[in-house]
Formats: sequence, structure tokens, C-alpha cells
Amino acid sequence: MAFGRIPRFSPSFSPSEAWICTKHLLGMGGDDDLVGEFERSFAEFIGAKHGVMVPSARYGLYLILEGLGIGEGDEVIVPGITYFAIPAMVELLGATPVFVDIGLNTHVLDVDEFERAITPNTKAVIPTHLFGTPCDMDAINAIAAEHSIQVIEDCAQSTGARYKGRRVGAIGDHAYYTFGLTKNITTLSGAMVTTDDDAVAQHIRDTIGRSGQASIKKAAKEAATGAAMFLATHPWLYWWTVHPAIVVGNALGKDPIHERFGEEERTYDEVPASYIENAQARNIQAAVGLKQLQRIEALNGSRMRNGRALDQGLAHVNGLGVPAYPEGAEPIYMSFVVHHPNRDALMSELRSHGVDTTTGYMSDLSDHPLFEAYKRSCPNATRAMQELLHIPVHPNLTKKQVQHLIESVRSATMATLG
Ligand SMILES: Cc1ncc(COP(=O)(O)O)c(C=O)c1O
Repeated sequence: MAFGRIPRFSPSFSPSEAWICTKHLLGMGGDDDLVGEFERSFAEFIGAKHGVMVPSARYGLYLILEGLGIGEGDEVIVPGITYFAIPAMVELLGATPVFVDIGLNTHVLDVDEFERAITPNTKAVIPTHLFGTPCDMDAINAIAAEHSIQVIEDCAQSTGARYKGRRVGAIGDHAYYTFGLTKNITTLSGAMVTTDDDAVAQHIRDTIGRSGQASIKKAAKEAATGAAMFLATHPWLYWWTVHPAIVVGNALGKDPIHERFGEEERTYDEVPASYIENAQARNIQAAVGLKQLQRIEALNGSRMRNGRALDQGLAHVNGLGVPAYPEGAEPIYMSFVVHHPNRDALMSELRSHGVDTTTGYMSDLSDHPLFEAYKRSCPNATRAMQELLHIPVHPNLTKKQVQHLIESVRSATMATLG
């Protein structure tokens, strides 16, 4: 049964998005400033004054911090679990990343721990709406305001999510988003910063303006990868191509998808040359982004429907930790993350049900060799990384597949608890 083999992610491209890519790659895209149009439309969608396209979220963060004059001697609070490149950018500017614990099942910044970590040197906090779950922004903003701390929202996994009716990204002072092929909306590659701060926006615009344009070859490669991913995750092709590769890879102790799309964790001595030389987005990226923006509510809506069904179906499974959400958060379920004391056994049991899961790309950076100098006790982050597992929740899942997922997770949990 093809529907019973479920990939961990599946990109959503419409025929008109595929066509627009082809047109731009053939040089038939026209000369209009689509990047400017996408920046304005995106900022309006979020509810921010400025939107500026950047090559990656991490460089967006770097430019926000630089624009704010944050550097040597300053501290920036980041959650214990996040993407390695985030504290790496803080460090690159000479500032100190201060790791703060998360809620065990919300996976987002623990507000009390945030308050406790503040010192006279704290200049910014990066509430990270991880897995599509908005942080408790009212509490974070109130504490930040009391201590004159800049709030930089990490929306890399939460574009379009709402907190108390407002979109994340327009609740703090600044925000960054990323639109890679596996994100909830894509511009093939690329990212965005939004802010109401004229000076920060100008700093980013000026810096990007001094750079050259991203190469068309890179865009073509991303488009081809996107098309291949789209086809490979179609139920029929997936059944006899990717799924067997994963099973064989896993038997050899490898995760072929992680190896293909994952990035080696590292820190930086300088801003990568590719950002300095090719930071300006191309029209092809913006053209795809404009189309995807028109569909974002539908794409997020499907994730939310699937996520809520999983929330309900897995609510009372003995031994399984299910996600929790801060009050007022309206998650978009970029990931559906469960906890299990014997996570690896659950993962392999689910594979025998045809369900591909992943432990994801995040790390507990509070206790990580790359950030040894900033080590700080974050017990929930450490425990979460040992226990968590991403269950598929992407918008291409059918109702039948979601039901299959619920039944598979239930029976796999029972089997692994013995
Ligand atoms: C939470 C989070 N923050 C930041 C990033 C970095 O994004 P980029 O690769 O565009 O720099 C990612 C990447 O997926 C992420 O998941």
C-alpha cells in the first residue's frame, strides 16, 4: 500500500510555480523588480514595516546584530536547542551567546530562565519559534522592555504562525525567516529579515546592495533539486525509490536524507565569501516566493489540520510525550515532535510501519563541543534532544495517512515499551 509509506517531508510545488521557475531559467521572466515586490508583500503579510531579502537566515541575523551595534562584551540570549549557525553568528560578531533552557515539551524559550539569565551586558534575546510553535511573546517582550533588550524573533520554522492573533515576526523588534526547499514556503533558497527599525533595514539593504547577485546556476540547481524532491516524495515513487534507500541506509547506520540535505555543524572565523559576493536575491526566487505567499495560508492550514489530528490521536498514549504549546500560541506544525525514553527503538519500529521519522537538524548547543566556552546547564534541552522524534506532518499527507500515522505511533510505542 503506497499510502502506508510516509516520507518525513514533502515539498509543495504547484504547476504554476514549476512553470514560473522554467520561464525564469529560460530568460523569459521579464525585468520587473520582483525582489522588491516580494519584500513588500511579505512585510505586509507579516505586519512589519520593512522586508529585506537576504541569502540566509543566519546572515540576516548577523546583519541585524551588526546594525544594532552588538559585538564585543555584549551578551545575546539564545535557546539551548537551536540551529548551530545562530550562536555561531553571535560569536562571529565578538558577542557571547548565552544558552537558556526551553520548556521540555514546548521546545521554546523558558521565560523564567530567560529572566534569570539577564545581566547588565545582555543586549538581545532570540526567541526561536521552533518546530512552528510560537514562544510566549507577551512575557518575553515585557521582560525585554524592562531591561532594554532587543527582541529578535527566529521565524525560520514558523513563517505565518500566530501568537494571540498576530503573526510572529511582527511581535518583537526584528525577525528573520528562511525559505529553503524543506521549509513551509520556499524561494528555492534565500531568506528574509523584517523590522520596523529604519536604521537596521537600511544597514541590511546597503550591505546587500554592495554585493553581487546570486548565481543563476545555483537557482537552476535548487529548482532541479526541488523538482526531484517533489517527485521522489510522491507516494508511488517514494515507495520503491527513497523508502528502500532509507531502509538500507539505516541498516548501515546512516541516514541518507540527513547526509544529502544536512549541513556540518561549525563556527565561523569570517562571513562566508559567498554572502559577500552573491547576497542579492534573483527574480526567480522572488517569483516563486510571491506564488508561495499566495498559498501560505492553505499550506499552513493543511499542516495545522494534520498537526491537530496528531495532537488528538496521540494525546493519551502511555510512555509517549506529546507537544505542548504556550498559551496564545497558534502553531503551524512545521514539525510534530514527540518524546520517547527509547527514541531509537521507536524510530526503528516506525520504519517497519513504513513511517520515516527523523531526529532533525537541531542540537543541544548548551552542552556542545563547538560552544564549550559558553556551556550552561539546560537540562530540558539536553533531555529533549535525547528523546525527541519528528513524526511526518507535511501538507501533502492525506487523511488516511494521518490516521495510519496515529495508529502506527500508538502501536510502535506499545511495542517499544515492552
Ligand atoms: C530555527 C532555525 N534558525 C535558523 C536557521 C538557519 O537558516 P539558514 O540556513 O537560512 O541560515 C534554521 C535553518 O533551518 C533554523 O531551523
